[in-house]
Amino acid sequence: MKILMVCLGNICRSPLAEGILRAKAESAGLEVTVDSAGTSNYHIGETPHRDSVRVASEHKIDIGRLKARQFIVSDFEDFDLIYVMDESNYKNVLRLAKNQEQKSKVHYLLDEIDPGSKAEVPDPWYGGYDGYQHVYQLLDRACDVITSKIISGELSSEVFV
Ligand code: 4NP
Repeated sequence: MKILMVCLGNICRSPLAEGILRAKAESAGLEVTVDSAGTSNYHIGETPHRDSVRVASEHKIDIGRLKARQFIVSDFEDFDLIYVMDESNYKNVLRLAKNQEQKSKVHYLLDEIDPGSKAEVPDPWYGGYDGYQHVYQLLDRACDVITSKIISGELSSEVFV
């Protein structure tokens, strides 16, 4: 099972989502590859925002050594599921999809909490630390659902081939 988390810069939301899901999968003993990427090239090579690193470390998750990268077309082949944080990420990723199979891999992350809602993980970039704490709580709940679905078999790589 290979899961990619996507936001705009790959320094605030998606690296946090990557760290949270990896930690949950590891503690559940699941074989899941987790990665993250940004739709923009703004922060390529940078480590995550200090407030994402801080809120993760408050929950005993280390994301301090991750490096931002841009989403690339081959990610459609390399991952079973691609979770986006907001509508703008959704449109930017879908625009790069070559066929229906690739499009079907792309989902709003918060649809895992509230199916069909297309709810957005708010961009904490322009706000203070409380925004990062709020984002953490949203991502944590969504990643709990994903982990449970992998355990129950509702989500598996075979579903998507
Ligand atoms: P992210 O947050 O998409 O959650 O990583 C942002 C990071 C950087 C910018 C915007 C959002 N920026 O405009 O540079």
